[in-house]
Amino acid sequence: MPIAILSAMEEECISLLDQMKDTITTSIAGRQYYQGRLWDKDVVVVFSRWGKVAAASTTVVLIREFKVSEIVFTGVAGSIDDSLHIGDVVVGRYIYQHDLDARPMIAQYEIPLMGVVAIETQQEKQVQIVDAANRFVNAELSDHISNKTVQEFGLGSPKVVLGGIATGDQFISDEAHAKLIKKNLPDVVCVEMEGGAVAQVCHEYSLPFSIIRTISDSANLDASIDFPSFVNSVAKAYSLGIIKNLFLQTA
Ligand code: ADE
Repeated sequence: MPIAILSAMEEECISLLDQMKDTITTSIAGRQYYQGRLWDKDVVVVFSRWGKVAAASTTVVLIREFKVSEIVFTGVAGSIDDSLHIGDVVVGRYIYQHDLDARPMIAQYEIPLMGVVAIETQQEKQVQIVDAANRFVNAELSDHISNKTVQEFGLGSPKVVLGGIATGDQFISDEAHAKLIKKNLPDVVCVEMEGGAVAQVCHEYSLPFSIIRTISDSANLDASIDFPSFVNSVAKAYSLGIIKNLFLQTA
């Protein structure tokens, strides 16, 4: 059974495709699913598009049409924790949906009829991905990202953390909103727009999943500055490097 790599950015997909062998492309409902081999593993690579509905529908197709054994999600996120900086990596532990609110029937953030507010990723995978990401940021980053780019984005010495991730159908660029999410969900360190959907669908299908996010902004007014440039010159190198390390270390 293949491993799915679901990317929130088309640029990440393209850089994985450059490395892929024996690629077969299938179009379903506006997405291109690329089946092939990456570092000797059978994979299906796809660009999810943005937001929870897009990510959920793509996840269902991966599970039902391509019979994947697990899903690894990669993308960028906004930091809501003071200790995190641009270029740090968050490996998801508990995944929340910060825009889910069915009060007064159900407590805020609780997933209706599931009775939980967060879904945990698989612990064994957490450790493997933290190792793969640490190797990338500590030993390989300078092979893939120019000094100029390091200076431009102030990448410094990036770190890898295992932490809570909160998903919602909103790009958070309002500091008050970011602070409110942090106050209500203290273990959350970053926000993004797809992980919670992947988590819920995978949980319902009993499928392992992982979420890897590179911090691109601080979820405040500066959040959209140079976003495309960050994705192209930093984030896609991170996801390629981390996935490569993960696949080679679990070969
Ligand atoms: N992805 C990257 N930055 C984000 C932000 N600030 N809010 C939501 N999703 C993001």
